[in-house]
Formats: sequence, structure tokens, C-alpha cells
Amino acid sequence: AETLPLHGLHVLVTAGPTQEPLDPVRYLTNHSTGKMGYAIAEQARDMGADVTLVSGPVTLSAPRGIDTVHVTTAQQMFNAVQEHFTQADLTIMAAAVGDFRPIEQSSEKIKKNGRVNIDLRLTSNPDILAWAGAHKTAGQTLCGFAMETQDLESNAAKKLTSKHCSMLVANNLNTPGAGFAVDTNVVTVLKPGETTDEPIIEHWNKMSKQELAERILTELAALR
Ligand code: C5P
Repeated sequence: AETLPLHGLHVLVTAGPTQEPLDPVRYLTNHSTGKMGYAIAEQARDMGADVTLVSGPVTLSAPRGIDTVHVTTAQQMFNAVQEHFTQADLTIMAAAVGDFRPIEQSSEKIKKNGRVNIDLRLTSNPDILAWAGAHKTAGQTLCGFAMETQDLESNAAKKLTSKHCSMLVANNLNTPGAGFAVDTNVVTVLKPGETTDEPIIEHWNKMSKQELAERILTELAALR
């Protein structure tokens, strides 16, 4: 096993959506299925790493040989990541974390009470990737994801820098074969420039999420 590329490394992966409850029966969420993050976690295991997967609610089954922590809300995901981050040599944040949650969570089902409109007040969730970027030490490698619907490169470049990532994997939701639920992805990969503030940008061809997971992990291993 000594020859496996990630042997002896701890890898932390976040995957799936979060659910932010409004009341006991309703929640805010997004279309993430967890496929990309689970593919990365399984690939890291197969490349010899010790893997912790922090997963939001998905229908995928917990992968064998991986320490899987199930969470529901962004705050719970943040707590789980804070608990495991210091031991992680490589951290890959593929979760689609809800940016906002309802300010108040009603303990009883919210009733219509004859209303046509209701106001829903939201407050921002912690940015888990930004926290990790602010706390990482020299030996830690951090990879973020970004899903965009416009201005992919400039938005992704901003995230790479502001969240102090070693690498950022960006996809455009509107590209065929990319994004939620499908088994393939089409990504643009950004890394900090070595001599300038301009990031190094690569456009990768469409491939399965499995193959993409392997390419991402190989790339991250090479950065170490
Ligand atoms: O800014 P944006 O949400 O698009 O950034 C996406 C990246 O940040 C992903 O890697 C995602 O997992 C991570 N993220 C996070 N916590 C948040 C929001 C995003 O870890 N609250």
C-alpha cells in the first residue's frame, strides 16, 4: 500500500446540499445530489488516503471504508469541519452549502391564517471554505468548488483569492453535461499564479465525475 499516491494522508471532503429548516415540516435547500463529493471521497480512499466525509442529506449510501459524518444544516457542517480540519492534509469542499437560513425557526408549523404574502427573513450562514482558508497552515492543501451561471472565470478567480484556496474547480450550471445530478462534469480549474496575481486557468474537457475526482486528487497531490 506504500505506493498508493495518497498513502498516509488525511483527506477531508464536504458533499451534498444543506437543509435550513423554517418550521418542523419545511426547509430551504438546493439541487445538489452529492455525486461529485462522494466520487472524490471514494477516489481518495482508493488512492490510499484516510478519508472523512462530511455529508449533507443525500440519497447516496455511505461509502465503505470512509468515516462519514451526516449533517443537515450549514451550521452543523461547519461544526463537523472545524472538528476534523486540523488533522486534514487535503481538504476538498464540494458541498453546496446554503448561503442563508431563516432567522427564526418556528417550533410549530407556520399557518396560512388567510395571508396572501408572507415575509421570510434570512440571515447568512458561516462560509466554511473561507474559514478553512483563513485557518490553514503551510502543510495543508485546500480545494474549493464554484458553481456559476455567468462570468465563470472572474467569479472563480475572486473565490480562489478571497478564500485562500490552493485550487478552485469551477463549473457553469448552463454547460451541457455539467453541474447537478448528471454523472459528468465540465470544469475550469484555477490555481494561484506563481509570479503574478493572475491565476493559472485550465479548461478541462467533459469527463465522468469519477475520472474528474481522480484528476483533481492527482493535481492536489502534486501541489504538496
Ligand atoms: O461562494 P460560493 O458559495 O460559490 O463558494 C463555493 C465554495 O465554497 C464551495 O467549495 C463550497 O463548498 C464552499 N462554501 C462553504 N460554505 C459556505 C458557502 C460555500 O464551504 N457557506
